[in-house]
Amino acid sequence: MDLFEYQARDLFAKHGVPVLAGEVIDTPEAAREVAERLGGKAVVKAQVKTGGRGKAGGVKVASDPEDAVAKAGQILGMDIKGHTVHKVMLAELAPEIASEYYVSFLLDRANRTFLAIASVEGGMEIEEVAATNPAAVAKIPVDAIEGVTPAKAREIVEAAAFPADVADQVTEILQTLWKTFLSEDALLVEVNPLAKVADGRVIALDGKVSLDENADFRQPEHEALVDHAAANPLEAAAKAKGLNYVKLDGEVGIIGNGAGLVMSTLDVVAYAGEGHGNVKPANFLDIGGGASAEVMANGLEIILGDPDVKSVFVNVFGGITACDAVANGIVQALELLKSKGEEVTKPLVVRLDGNNAELGRQILTDADHPLVEQVDTMDGAAERAAELAAK
Ligand SMILES: Nc1ncnc2c1ncn2[C@@H]1O[C@H](COP(=O)(O)OP(=O)(O)O)[C@@H](O)[C@H]1O
Ligand SMILES: [Mg+2]
Repeated sequence: MDLFEYQARDLFAKHGVPVLAGEVIDTPEAAREVAERLGGKAVVKAQVKTGGRGKAGGVKVASDPEDAVAKAGQILGMDIKGHTVHKVMLAELAPEIASEYYVSFLLDRANRTFLAIASVEGGMEIEEVAATNPAAVAKIPVDAIEGVTPAKAREIVEAAAFPADVADQVTEILQTLWKTFLSEDALLVEVNPLAKVADGRVIALDGKVSLDENADFRQPEHEALVDHAAANPLEAAAKAKGLNYVKLDGEVGIIGNGAGLVMSTLDVVAYAGEGHGNVKPANFLDIGGGASAEVMANGLEIILGDPDVKSVFVNVFGGITACDAVANGIVQALELLKSKGEEVTKPLVVRLDGNNAELGRQILTDADHPLVEQVDTMDGAAERAAELAAK
């Protein structure tokens, strides 16, 4: 989960990374009082989960509280790379900036380690620097057990050639930033710019943090950081039902048992869709091994509630849970939905294979639901579901 800058700022402050005061607001009017508290002048910063806000006009200096109201008014509602600005942070204006550096820690999956990245050429052009002058960007592996010791922090400072006058401060910041990374179970903590300002201090002026959701069970405080307003309502409903669901942008609803089968189902549907006006899968949904009627009903309910869905492909390979149990699950799910007044109105293509496939198919044939069609092969069913979606 990516955080907003103001949330990253709060985590930095909690772990001792030097930051400036900042408060988040969602109306221009609220800027006046906050700017007064910050000493009159303030930087108004768009809070959107994308970079390059400065270049897009989403970071503006306000000279007084009235100006802060005006600047907040300009930035709120702005579109930055497809993200609408609903909140702005008013931050204390940094003393004149002498240098802008870049530092980050991240999980380096390819090398099965953590990685520190640092550069004295930070700021808004860091991507450009990384592309044209990679030597200016130091990359130092960080051992998961040892972490960032004072010696490791100094190694990073030397590799990136931080100037002597800031070396001690940066060494300290790298350790507090690592503490943030480790104790918050982050996948990324990034500071850009880490600025050296006129009075000699080194301060984190912008922060990006991505948290590892797999660690949510031991990070109860992270729940408060979730941006519920931005969550896809279907995904939120699926999550509440404990379903493994991801919304996609196509028209064919997909239900399968087992993540691998569902992923290959997405592929065959996308392929079949090329022949039918480019229809695509509308979602990923893995109902898992023991596909009970209730789970099937929950899954169908979510998928049928998606206005983008034109047809549904139920692709089941019977294993420990045999196809007859799944078929009964489908029949009961359809009855369950009917009794709740959510009768199925979209065509369902079902492919059953594997353990007790014959029995399962017979159950569906006997149930004789007008919108349920059976196709014996996965490719054939994908083809039919795509065809129905394109109608
Ligand atoms: N509090 C601040 N005081 C002074 N200048 C700032 C402050 N915050 C950001 N800036 C300046 O604005 C630039 C862009 O802001 P930043 O927060 O890095 O947004 P982004 O990386 O999305 O463009 C920074 O590189 C810095 O020069
Ligand atoms: Mg930045």
